[in-house]
Amino acid sequence: MSSPAASDQLVIFDTTLRDGEQSPGASMTKDEKLRIAKQLERLRVDVIEAGFPASSNGDFEAVKAIADAIKDSVVCGLSRANDRDISRAAEALKGAARGRIHTFIATSPLHMEKKLRMSPDEVFEQAKLAVRFARNLIGDVEFSPEDGYRSDPDFLCRVIEKVIDEGATTINVPDTVGYAIPELYGNFIKNLRERIPNSDKAIWSVHCHNDLGMAVANSLAGVKIGGARQVECTINGLGERAGNCSLEEIVMAVKTRKDYFGLDLRIDTRHIVAASRMVSQTTGFVVQPNKAVVGANAFAHASGIHQDGVLKARDTYEIMRAEDVGWSANKIVLGKLSGRNAFKQRLQELGVAMQSEADINAAFSRFKELADRKSEIFDEDILALVSDGELSHVSEQFAFVSLSQHSETGERPRARIVFTVEGQEVHAESEGNGPVDASLKAIEAQVKSGAEMVLYSVNAISGSTESQGEVTVRLQNAGRVVNGVGADPDIVVASAKAYLSALNKLQRQSEKVAAQG
Ligand code: KIV
Ligand code: ZN
Repeated sequence: MSSPAASDQLVIFDTTLRDGEQSPGASMTKDEKLRIAKQLERLRVDVIEAGFPASSNGDFEAVKAIADAIKDSVVCGLSRANDRDISRAAEALKGAARGRIHTFIATSPLHMEKKLRMSPDEVFEQAKLAVRFARNLIGDVEFSPEDGYRSDPDFLCRVIEKVIDEGATTINVPDTVGYAIPELYGNFIKNLRERIPNSDKAIWSVHCHNDLGMAVANSLAGVKIGGARQVECTINGLGERAGNCSLEEIVMAVKTRKDYFGLDLRIDTRHIVAASRMVSQTTGFVVQPNKAVVGANAFAHASGIHQDGVLKARDTYEIMRAEDVGWSANKIVLGKLSGRNAFKQRLQELGVAMQSEADINAAFSRFKELADRKSEIFDEDILALVSDGELSHVSEQFAFVSLSQHSETGERPRARIVFTVEGQEVHAESEGNGPVDASLKAIEAQVKSGAEMVLYSVNAISGSTESQGEVTVRLQNAGRVVNGVGADPDIVVASAKAYLSALNKLQRQSEKVAAQG
């Protein structure tokens, strides 16, 4: 059998919906996850890690819905190395065209002793039995030695050789805490592959966290030096602490420098920007303007010398084409007179798939409302509109109805707001330091959530003061952190929507905790 590592194909394994979602405040509903999974499928991601089915009923349902809907990517469910978790993952993946179980157990001395309180022999045994159990349920099994990079290589060789014998088809070596250095990590993987006699029976994978800002560099070294042929990554680098390896960066590095890496990718890069916007708007994690590939400035040339150069010959200062990653050249797309068909076509061009004609109608009527207030509708406006929680199928506890506010120099601003609580209208009024503060205080006076606001940010969706404001509100309550996002040309309204969206998420999380009992 030829070595899978010798292949020229690089497998892109996206874990936005699992590791990305573990980021505090990034939790997503089933509908939100399904929408992102469909975008990942359009992006032609090879493997979508959809969640951790044994962690909650909500995650089980989300993985199941994704497994049932996705046809063109492998759908993967994470599980600890025990029979209950693995059975739960297999159950959630039953409807998948191609499913994978990803099972893990920690192998570093620190994790085994302090976290698991298990001896290395016990961990070895559990890893072996877990992979054996999983392989009896499904043909595609990935094994990860958690904190692998800080594990003893001799012990790791023993465990990995055994789990490959038991039928693991992918071996992933995580740098769980982002401690690796590119050359060292690359050689670590190379050394394991050379020492393990059956290493050619599995695809080797890298999974790097970004604590020292080297997740992408480490992953590339794992590929180039170590011979790994799967990279685990997330859209916008979302993930615990400083995040994971960013999908858009690793993909564009391998594609742009094909001369060096010599690897093929299945990814349709034209859907990258839409995926980035969707993940940012769903989670409330704003993308920094200078972020590679997907930041607003990634293709902007401000200096006269650069502008002049690009106009004469694009490749003087550009190594990638903006349109190749989904930045459209002509950003003004629709206006007040645009019809439903033009709107629907633009949705298709942006890679947004609506679930039904009723969804398109709902989105179109919101588009018309927006077009009445804003003469030029940009792609970003459309993406904000379809990401908005109000189009979701979940009936929310709190929903925005209307708002009026008065502010004048020398006077304390006042706001009046109408919103619904389980469908019943509530009227609230308050003063505040500014109109946003007054509006949010009015909501809080009625809801009495007691949540602490730990972040408030406003971002102009398409750059100018005519654009919609996109507001992110992060609330913290009883150890839970959530992000709410709201968009509107009026930033006070956007703020109220964001606050209500965060309250809905807090509510869903407390229901989830209560359901787990
Ligand atoms: O970072 C990590 O070790 C993980 C494993 C579960 C693969 O996310
Ligand atoms: Zn991880």
